[in-house]
Amino acid sequence: MSEAAFTPRVFSGIQPSGNLHLGNYLGALKRFAEAQDRGVETLYCMVDLHAVTVWQEPADLRRATRELAAGFIASGLDPARSILFNQSQVAEHSQLAWVFNCVARMGWMQRMTQFKDKAGKNAQNASLGLFAYPALMAADILVYHGTHVPVGEDQKQHIELSRDIAAKFNHDYGVEFFPLPEPVIEGAATRVMSLRDGTRKMSKSDPSDMSRINLTDDAETIARKIRKAKTDPEPLPSEAEGLEDRPEARNLVNIYAALADMSVEQVMAEAGGQPFSVFKPRLADLAVDRLTPISIEMKRLMHDEAEIDRILADGAGRARAIAAPILRRTYDIMGMVSAPGG
Ligand code: TYM
Repeated sequence: MSEAAFTPRVFSGIQPSGNLHLGNYLGALKRFAEAQDRGVETLYCMVDLHAVTVWQEPADLRRATRELAAGFIASGLDPARSILFNQSQVAEHSQLAWVFNCVARMGWMQRMTQFKDKAGKNAQNASLGLFAYPALMAADILVYHGTHVPVGEDQKQHIELSRDIAAKFNHDYGVEFFPLPEPVIEGAATRVMSLRDGTRKMSKSDPSDMSRINLTDDAETIARKIRKAKTDPEPLPSEAEGLEDRPEARNLVNIYAALADMSVEQVMAEAGGQPFSVFKPRLADLAVDRLTPISIEMKRLMHDEAEIDRILADGAGRARAIAAPILRRTYDIMGMVSAPGG
């Protein structure tokens, strides 16, 4: 099977660890919906097995998984057109991850910046799962022969590692069985920054709630966070180059461009010369306009947990139907004996 023979299939995942924010929306969810609307086959996963690489209160995980499912749907993902499911319901992810634990090298994992960031100074105390995290990620994608992976900038290194794992498996066994998945990192907001510090990524784990816009924030909260966002005293430049040493200004312009489906150049042509006292209220109006329908829909969906659980179970069944034969073939390539007729 040559690489050209792989049919395009989009896979991506988000951790259900609470505080779904504007970075997740612009860097991932909005783009997931765009891929779906282009008519490619799309699978999107709530990666609960990844979430538990750091401690999660069981009740919080359960709630966050359902809330994330509601966030997917409210952002435009249609459970009939995309396969939406949570990772732990499809055992093939964990099974292929074990195989990839045996393919990936310790040195590759040690280079992962996310592991270094998350493990912090006390790496000896980090879970083994946190270290092996990228092998499970490779399994998530490759158990479906996923070819394209829409993600934010921070996941690029992990997708490159997935390519290395696929390439090593293919090389070691002399096959062209796994595609080398492409990271798809496009648009103005592949790295949304904190509203309090334009040099730090907007993140669910930032202790300051003012640093991020949560998808569950109401209109008034969104407007207040944008009004209070850190900026410099200069008006906006009229060319994108003028944003180079102005991280906070650049971040707000990128957010505007992504929310409005405009290029940064178009925003500069329209808003260049404006002081923040004019630009911020415009951005706040736009953000409220785009985000409040999502938060209202999420709240509505959260009232019917049984329906969310039904959607996830249906998605898991459809996901398993793709994953099971790929896992079986992987075992077979490796020389594992299967049950007769199995
Ligand atoms: P996670 O849950 O941290 O983030 C989910 C998605 O949101 C993007 N993102 C951002 N994009 C722009 N600006 C930001 N500030 C920002 N913060 C987060 C992330 O890049 C990501 O696309 N390891 C992954 C989940 C995962 C996965 C996968 C992704 C597990 N298996 C397989 C793709 C394919 C993660 O922790 O994302």
